[in-house]
Amino acid sequence: MRVIDTVTELRAALDAERAAGRAVGLVPTMGALHEGHLSLVRRAVAECDVVCATVFVNPLQFGPHEDFDAYPRDLDTDAALAAGAGAALLFAPLTAEMFPAEPCTTVHVAGVSEGMEGASRPGHFDGVATIVTKLFAIAGPCRAYFGEKDFQQLAVVRQLVRDLSLPVDVVGCPTVRDVDGLALSSRNAYLTAEQRQSALVLHRALCAGAAAVAAGETDPATVAELMASIVAAEPEVQLDYAEAVDPRTLRRPAALDGEVRLLVAARVGTTRLIDNLGARTPGAAPNHDHHHPEQGATVPAARTDHQESH
Ligand code: PAF
Repeated sequence: MRVIDTVTELRAALDAERAAGRAVGLVPTMGALHEGHLSLVRRAVAECDVVCATVFVNPLQFGPHEDFDAYPRDLDTDAALAAGAGAALLFAPLTAEMFPAEPCTTVHVAGVSEGMEGASRPGHFDGVATIVTKLFAIAGPCRAYFGEKDFQQLAVVRQLVRDLSLPVDVVGCPTVRDVDGLALSSRNAYLTAEQRQSALVLHRALCAGAAAVAAGETDPATVAELMASIVAAEPEVQLDYAEAVDPRTLRRPAALDGEVRLLVAARVGTTRLIDNLGARTPGAAPNHDHHHPEQGATVPAARTDHQESH
């Protein structure tokens, strides 16, 4: 695997691949790679001719009191893992390469970015949208792989690609979980053994919410309150939000009907975790919309969330 740290070199490398008729797969990450990221790389390898993973801890998407400085960084390990999963290129620029001067341009995606993470982390999605647009501008036409673990981020990226007519095919991939249900996240590394145990309540709450939807509950507030009450019963865990939304608009509908996305965010000690799960009201047909892959309502904890379409 070739490690590249300049914009010019990456652009030239990917242009050469496309000129030779090869399809490019892009896997944007902030490093601290785990099995979730590697599942994206493997999927990209299966679907593209050449895969480039990127590792850049993006300062634009961290708030002033967030964990930018503490965010785990280990490029050698990331490079070994990305290469093992089949990436041919790793783009790992320094901040000075990506931002030689203070940027004056911000990409703001209205609508889907506004609730939940957008409300709790002001400016976060502007930072994500700006860096992702920049990575797409550098990489050029490609298929880009993102995890459903960051479901709202995936919606923001899809929206900006549509709005700006970027030559990128966005592929959402199912969340990878430990066998006990905990969604893999680079931030899990901050948890003590006890906190990790407490953090399992997020997935338990989502599964209970999904079961309620599958059993016929159509009031989103009732489902959200059920999930919140389950999280509240875990003393170590402070709920930020629990939501039951339409997976396309990310808004709470008047009544749940068909595909539903359940999302939770909570602090476990000082670590903020998010998770989400697809659910479906009884009798609703599975969604085979290419751009909005959803999953079944009652899938229990497994290595990878079940996905019906992509
Ligand atoms: O999901 C992430 O790791 C980041 O938000 C991303 C998409 C790489 C942008 O920095």
